[in-house]
Amino acid sequence: METQIKKTAEELLQKLTLDEKIGMIHGAQLFQTAGVPRLGIPPLKMSDGPMGVRQEFEPDRWNAIGHSDDYVTYLPCNSALAATWNRTLAYDMGSVLGEEARGRGKDVILGPGVNIKRSPLCGRNFEYFSEDPYLTKEMAVPYIQGVQLWDVAACVKHFAANNQETGRLWVDVEIDEQVLRDIYLPAFYEAVTKGGVYTIMGAYNKLYGEHCCQSNFLLHKILREEWGYDGVVISDWGGVHDTNKAALSQLDIEMSVTYDFDDYFLADPLKKKIQAGEVREAAIDEKVLRILLLMMRLHMLDGERKSGAYNTPGHRNKALEVARESVILLKNDKNQLPLKKEELKSVLLVGENAECLHAGGGGSAEIKALYEISPLMGLKTHLGGNVTVGYAQGYCREEKMEEGQVNWQETSLEDGGAPAKLSVTQNDKLEMKRKELRLEAVRLSKEYETVIFIGGLNHDLDCEGLDREDMKLPYEQDTLIQELLAAKPDTIVIIIGGSPVEMETWIHQAHTTLWGWYGGMEGGNALAEVLLGEVNPSGKLPETFYKSHKDCSAYALGELVGDKKVVYKEGKYVGYRYLDQYLIEPQFCFGHGLSYTSFEYSNLEIDRRNNSVLCSVKNSGHVAGGEIIQVYKRSEKNEDSLYKELIAFEKVFLKRGEERQVALHIQEEMEEDYKILVGSSSRDIRLTGNVHTF
Ligand code: NOJ
Repeated sequence: METQIKKTAEELLQKLTLDEKIGMIHGAQLFQTAGVPRLGIPPLKMSDGPMGVRQEFEPDRWNAIGHSDDYVTYLPCNSALAATWNRTLAYDMGSVLGEEARGRGKDVILGPGVNIKRSPLCGRNFEYFSEDPYLTKEMAVPYIQGVQLWDVAACVKHFAANNQETGRLWVDVEIDEQVLRDIYLPAFYEAVTKGGVYTIMGAYNKLYGEHCCQSNFLLHKILREEWGYDGVVISDWGGVHDTNKAALSQLDIEMSVTYDFDDYFLADPLKKKIQAGEVREAAIDEKVLRILLLMMRLHMLDGERKSGAYNTPGHRNKALEVARESVILLKNDKNQLPLKKEELKSVLLVGENAECLHAGGGGSAEIKALYEISPLMGLKTHLGGNVTVGYAQGYCREEKMEEGQVNWQETSLEDGGAPAKLSVTQNDKLEMKRKELRLEAVRLSKEYETVIFIGGLNHDLDCEGLDREDMKLPYEQDTLIQELLAAKPDTIVIIIGGSPVEMETWIHQAHTTLWGWYGGMEGGNALAEVLLGEVNPSGKLPETFYKSHKDCSAYALGELVGDKKVVYKEGKYVGYRYLDQYLIEPQFCFGHGLSYTSFEYSNLEIDRRNNSVLCSVKNSGHVAGGEIIQVYKRSEKNEDSLYKELIAFEKVFLKRGEERQVALHIQEEMEEDYKILVGSSSRDIRLTGNVHTF
């Protein structure tokens, strides 16, 4: 099959003129290349993801077309998906995205983002899975396979070491090569070798002084030579800077945000160089051949392509399933949750995020959602008319500047894509308004039996082109939460966001705390179901929730962020690896998440011959529930080595009283001096064993 495909692609290549080839290797519109109609070669059509298929733009203007035909299923963000630790859901969510992309006539969906969450402040963290390379790749691979089932290419991005938004177009990342390979590259490697990903997007930033989209080291040495990748490499939009370098690199398609398509580096400038004999035509033949191969793999040329579909009830249901499993119960000290629906009389929701719709924000990950159920809507529809549900805004954001005609993406090469600066309405005015809102919320809280605060972040902060300055809750929410807890000690605190926030000022008073992500179109329903016990929470943190960003290794050991250059001085100590090694307490550790039931672990067996770890897990509580069994390794070679690394996990659903033996396959060779730690989180280790003792 592959041989036949290659043969046909080579034959087609021979028929193409220089102009036709040039047309295929650069954007001829904002999201597509040129086709070759005389040979029946279509253009390659792309769309942003990953929470759904982005709305349609005019071909040569960053203006949304605005018709009613591009509403889509709005899926939970990748961090939410990672919080499910459920590979089947990752496959299913990928499949929804792929089917919708195909249904919308796309060939490439620009996702998933698999960059490692090196800093809790990175504005695009919500688009990424985790701080851990193993969890990231375990979710990314099935996701990619799900997308590509639909004759649509996934596009893993941003290759590589794109871990901050500050100065993202020019910042030069310096990192120990082994660390790069151990922490930052595994997800890309597995996407290529296991996921069979058809396309990869180069990152904006530089690595070792070379821009990633034209990097010899990344694209030639690692991707093509070492990994044997023959898929298509697409630049990030405006990530190419030099005709010669890009032509000679292993980049295949140059895309950008500007409208001068013929002037792109791989357009007329390259044509002239080829005609002048400065660049050999063979260099672009390779690129075109890979593009043709991609088209054949996607059945774009043989008329046997799947047609896809969007906005199906099944897709909405899948969005709900993912959202349900992504909610994380951080604290339930007094077993206040689940709420008993029959006993509820009045519930007050406080906070903008109870009401706020998030789909349309975040940057290129924005979604034109068919609908989005807010937490307020979710709770109201689940409670019905016999319970009084009230709402108090509680806090407010700064007013946004009047948005002009210019789309942020149009100017993103000048300012890195930072959203329009928020004009801070006079500070004292804002302070007064917030005070009034707090007073009103506290007053109302006394009139209701149950009070639920729903706040956190939004896409003004979790946003492309921008990193947060710290982890503090914005808009004086800390004060509001403290005041609510003082007036109503049973206040349930729910935080919604794509990255952690500081909780120190109130977390010891709040005995019930839930974490919700940008949960997609069904997020509000999922949250309501968890609150009311219709769903038992089974999500766990795919990243460390630090007490403050100062506890993150990039900050503590070196450079959190840099404008022109950033040195990853923390090396391999990323996320929980650092906290374990340096004995630092997180607010909530990697892998943490509670349930309405309890689980008992026993009978650890380490089966070296089959490279697996076995243990028994019993649901010892009163309701059915899901548990994520986590296996970590710690090297015993060196006494000073305190850090551990996730090497396997399984999610199991057990009925009340049910016990099951679970086998967890270890992908890497188990070494003699490993300590194996099995637990319910990275800091709740239930069983330990040494590899050599079995
Ligand atoms: C820039 C972003 O970095 C990338 O993720 C996105 O796919 C492109 N713009 C296209 O919108």
